[in-house]
Amino acid sequence: MTDPILSNYNAIRRATLEHDRRFTLRDGHLLFEGVDLHRLAKQYGTPFYVFSEAEIRRNIDEIRTAFARHPATKVFYASKSCSVMGVLEAVKNAGICAEANSRYEVRKCLEIGFTGDQIVFNGVVKKPEDLEFAIANELYLINVDSLYELDLIDSISRRLQKTANVCVRVEPNVPSATHAQLVTAYHAKSGLDLEQAEETCRRILAMPYVRLRGLHMHVGDQVPEAEPFAKATRVLVDESRRLEETLGIRFDLINVGGGIPTPYKYDEQNGDPLKDNMYAGITARDFADAVIDEVHKWRTDIEICIEPGRKVTGSAAVLLTELSCQKQKTNYDPDGNVQCHVDWKFVDAGYSILSDSQHFDWFFYVYNASRVGEAHDHYIKLAGPLCDGGDYFHMGIKDEYFALPASSAVGDIVVFLDAGAYTIESQTVYNNRPRTAVVLIDREGRDRLIRREDTYEDMVGYDLY
Ligand SMILES: Cc1ncc(COP(=O)(O)O)c(C=O)c1O
Repeated sequence: MTDPILSNYNAIRRATLEHDRRFTLRDGHLLFEGVDLHRLAKQYGTPFYVFSEAEIRRNIDEIRTAFARHPATKVFYASKSCSVMGVLEAVKNAGICAEANSRYEVRKCLEIGFTGDQIVFNGVVKKPEDLEFAIANELYLINVDSLYELDLIDSISRRLQKTANVCVRVEPNVPSATHAQLVTAYHAKSGLDLEQAEETCRRILAMPYVRLRGLHMHVGDQVPEAEPFAKATRVLVDESRRLEETLGIRFDLINVGGGIPTPYKYDEQNGDPLKDNMYAGITARDFADAVIDEVHKWRTDIEICIEPGRKVTGSAAVLLTELSCQKQKTNYDPDGNVQCHVDWKFVDAGYSILSDSQHFDWFFYVYNASRVGEAHDHYIKLAGPLCDGGDYFHMGIKDEYFALPASSAVGDIVVFLDAGAYTIESQTVYNNRPRTAVVLIDREGRDRLIRREDTYEDMVGYDLY
């Protein structure tokens, strides 16, 4: 292959088939945790997501191992990254806790078996009924996001005569090189100004049923470098130390949020992992070291809470779609001169099914799972089925172009890798196309449906007429 982009892309494909712990090649088909994805797709009907319980476990183990030198670490899985009950169950069975962002997220966590003291509650808008639910269920932490919310917590906890455990979420004022919308510790809507922390803590200390446990932050999501985590932890540590001295208190914990990245691009040698956050510029270990080193300069006897989401589920799922239509088109300039010919391939999932929290500029490796052993050397544009000109995959390997085998045919299964975080949660029924099913491959390699596709009755059932 003379085209360096194609030869690089195919080298990654071959390396994935040979060395990736999740994938293998058999009879030309792609196997995920030993399960033939072509066969699975024909069995369940595309489009749908496939989760690997083994990979969820491996990711959780990686995070735990990274924090092994600080045994008093509590890991709360950010359930917004994927709250399908079967996934929550797999996370629970792996032995960690959960983080939730709405009353129903909390409810789902409780229903799957997490106890209240295994759940952390976040969010910029927590209404009185949300807070009442959280306090009544004795959650491990409510991360206070505003003074307005704190007053609600005070009055509800008095009325219920129940303790509300809280952290104060502050903004450490630390930017990071991720997507602008994913920066949450700098000019963000979340949290309180650092200068407000002391006044907030003083107020809490005067509240009879509110128990102050520590400070909280979240730097951002898919952050490709360790320095922002170190810097923000330093800010949190300095403020915690100062507050302990000034107020004569002792914090139980420090909550540093989530943000560990997962790799969407693997060929680090060909890119700039510190600038392109589609690479995982850092590992769970780098994240842990950045946090622990700073915390230990202050105290070694304090609990560290972390809230990883993407790192747990990102690499644990693939999206299976079917190549459902194809056509050749010609791009002309406004005067009618031919500019280029475009080979359009259409799959049965568009941005209503796969968009990472509505980000169109997200990269996924895309392979023909039915012919994954063949060279992917034919440039195509890849589109979804929605009646919207924007419904095509924008981040290809060469501008908007992807590569599939030239022999690709309607009926082949097209797979998107690393599709497990913030995707299923962002699905919509735009164009009245159903949200997808989800299949789990358990640790014994058996597949089972853990969510069914929306039916027509589901979709029309909300409308009252
Ligand atoms: C407060 C908080 N904690 C944890 C997370 C999870 O982040 P990630 O999935 O990047 O680990 C988020 C994500 O937005 C968050 O806002």
